[in-house]
Amino acid sequence: MSVTIKSEHEIELMREAGRILAITHDEMAKIIRPGISTMDINRKGEEIIRSFGCIPSFLNYNGYPASICVSVNDEVVHGIPSKKRILRDGDIVSLDAGVIYKGYQSDAARTHAVGEISEEDKKLIEVTKQSFFEGIKFAKAGNHLFDISKAIQNYVEANGFSVVRDLVGHGIGKNLHEEPQVPNYKPIGRGMKLRKGMTLAIEPMVNIGAYDVWMLDDDWTVVTKDGSKSSHYENTVYITDGEPELLSYREDLV
Ligand code: MF3
Ligand code: CO
Repeated sequence: MSVTIKSEHEIELMREAGRILAITHDEMAKIIRPGISTMDINRKGEEIIRSFGCIPSFLNYNGYPASICVSVNDEVVHGIPSKKRILRDGDIVSLDAGVIYKGYQSDAARTHAVGEISEEDKKLIEVTKQSFFEGIKFAKAGNHLFDISKAIQNYVEANGFSVVRDLVGHGIGKNLHEEPQVPNYKPIGRGMKLRKGMTLAIEPMVNIGAYDVWMLDDDWTVVTKDGSKSSHYENTVYITDGEPELLSYREDLV
């Protein structure tokens, strides 16, 4: 499948998916505290998504067994919620969620502190979020895809952290994963030219230590090889001739 250019009507539907997703993240963030389980977060997220009559897009996606990916500390992405996994003071937790509204997708991730966390972990979460905002300064028709990648990588590395290379962002629309792949590091070349109507899920994953990751035996949970903590931040972004529109983000929400 190739890159899809969305019509104004399709963007309207993705805007609604994104709005619901931003609200879902905000509601999930409110319940985070030491003592809750990662399954409690999954339950809350699924409840909010369904309250809008929407479908959580991750549920059963390639066999994924839950609605929200909940990844703690050295878990990078795709952690599987469990009622036995209790969050503790000092943990960091990444939540990744997707919403389908009238056949159109939105995908977004946030990382939160659980109770009081270290200064280094605070910096990790902030740098990851800011790297997304550095990247989207280049998310504009006429620029090239890897301009975004390069800006993310430069910002993360200037702050002493590393960007995960084995996982990338992606086009999004009727499908959760569409072309193009959106790396968070700069490959050789400059990548495809960006066009108005492209919609991209841009999602830096940042480690305190080395960028290497591996997969746990559950075949889903990706963890850092060196055990260092990892943070994730993602939004669904609409490319225009001017400023990009963040479909899954609102300034008054997380
Ligand atoms: N947001 C995730 C990504 O873009 C999607 C998770 S798929 C799931 O890779 F199956 F793990 F839910
Ligand atoms: Co994604």
